[in-house]
Amino acid sequence: MNSVPSHYQRVLSGMRPTGQLHLGHYHGVLKNWVKLQHEYECYFFVADWHALTTHYEDPSVISESVWDMVIDWLAAGIDPGDATLFIQSRILEHAELHLLLSMLTPLGWVERVPSYKDQQEQLRNLDLATYGFLGYPVLQSADILAYRAGMVPVGDDQVAHIELTREIARRFNYVYGREPGFEEKAEAAIKKMGKKNARLYRDLMKSYQEQGNAEALAKARALLEHQQNISLGDRERLFGYLEGGGKVILPEPQALLTPASKMPGLDGQKMSKSYGNTISLREKPAGIAEKLKTMPTDPARVRRTDPGEPGKCPVWQLHEVYSSEQTRQWVQTGCRSASIGCLDCKAPVIESVCAELEPMNARAQEYMEHPDVVRSIMAEGTERARDVAAETLADVRASMGLSYR
Ligand code: TRP
Ligand code: SF4
Repeated sequence: MNSVPSHYQRVLSGMRPTGQLHLGHYHGVLKNWVKLQHEYECYFFVADWHALTTHYEDPSVISESVWDMVIDWLAAGIDPGDATLFIQSRILEHAELHLLLSMLTPLGWVERVPSYKDQQEQLRNLDLATYGFLGYPVLQSADILAYRAGMVPVGDDQVAHIELTREIARRFNYVYGREPGFEEKAEAAIKKMGKKNARLYRDLMKSYQEQGNAEALAKARALLEHQQNISLGDRERLFGYLEGGGKVILPEPQALLTPASKMPGLDGQKMSKSYGNTISLREKPAGIAEKLKTMPTDPARVRRTDPGEPGKCPVWQLHEVYSSEQTRQWVQTGCRSASIGCLDCKAPVIESVCAELEPMNARAQEYMEHPDVVRSIMAEGTERARDVAAETLADVRASMGLSYR
C-alpha cells in the first residue's frame, strides 16, 4: 500500500519541440524520465504551445520537431505502456484552464518570475513583449494542475514556475474551495468514515495542525485515499480540512529537481543547441568519431610529446561521464606523462558514445519507418490524458459556478 495519495504520486513534465534532441537532453532529462516511468504514473507531453510563445513568427521548426522529438523519446526508452504521452495543443482543457487561472493570477506574480525578464534579455532578436510570453508560466501551471500532478521533474531554471503553480493553486483553492457550510460538510464527511477512522483522522489532523507533524499529514492523506465509503467531493473536502483550508480542488505540486546534467558539449561548456556544441541523438558512428576527433584538447599539448593536464581538457569531462575508473586512471597518467596521444585518449569515448547511441538509432529507425505507429501511440496517450484533464476541468468549472445546465 502506498503511503501517499495517488495524485500526489502523479508525475508530469513537458518538453518544447524547438529542434533536434542531443546527448544533453538524454543525460539531463530523458534518462530521468525513463527511470520515473517505472516508479510513478507518468505524463510526458510535447509543449508545442509553449514553443509558440518564442517561435510565433516562424513556427515551422515546431511542427518539424514534434514527431522527431517523440521518436527520440521512444528511442531513448520511454515506454508508452508505462507513461502517457501526448501533445499539449490536442487537449483544449489546457487552454481553458490557462484562461480561468489567468483571471485570478495577479499581474505582479507573473512579472516577477525571473525567466520573464531573463529570456527577454537573452533572446533580444525576438520580440517577447507579448501577452502570450508573459502568460508562459500560467500556461505551465495549467499544464500541471489539469492533471493534479504531485511531482514535476524539472531543471533548476524551472523551479520558479513550479513555485508560481503552487501559489496559483493555493489561491484557487482559497477563493473557490470555500463553499457555504464547508465546515459542517467536512464534519459530516468525517463521520461517514466510521468511528475508528474518524478518530484517527482527527488525531492526525491535530498532530499536523498543532505540531506541524508532516508524517501525520502523510498518514492522514493515505487514510483518505483508501476510504471506500466517502464521495470524491468529500475526499477533496477532507484533504483541505486537514490543512486548515477549503476544499483542495487543485493540489499543490512539488518540483522534482533533476540532478544537474554533467553532460559537457564538444567545447567543454554545457551541451546546448545555442552553443553549437552538441552531438545529436541521431548522429551516426562516423559523425560521432569526426566530431570527437576534432574536439579541442588541453591547449598545452601542441605536440604529441607535450604533457597535458586532464583538468584543463574538455575530453576529460567526457571520460567522467562515460569511462570506468580504470580507463580514467589510464588517461590521467597517460596524459600527464605524454605516453598517450589525444587521439588514443579519445578512442574509448568515441566507442562509448557510439555504443550508447547505436540501439537508440536502431529504435528510431524502426519508428521512422512506421510513422503510423508513432501517430497511434500519441493518439492513445492524448485520449487518456484528455479524460484526466476533462475530469479536473469539470471540478474547476463547478467550483467557479460555470457549470450551467
Ligand atoms: N517550460 C518547460 C521548459 O521550458 C516546459 C514545460 C511546459 C513544462 N509545461 C510544463 C515542464 C509543465 C514541466 C511541466 O522546459
Ligand atoms: Fe585531453 Fe586526453 Fe589529450 Fe589529455 S590526452 S589533453 S585528457 S584528450
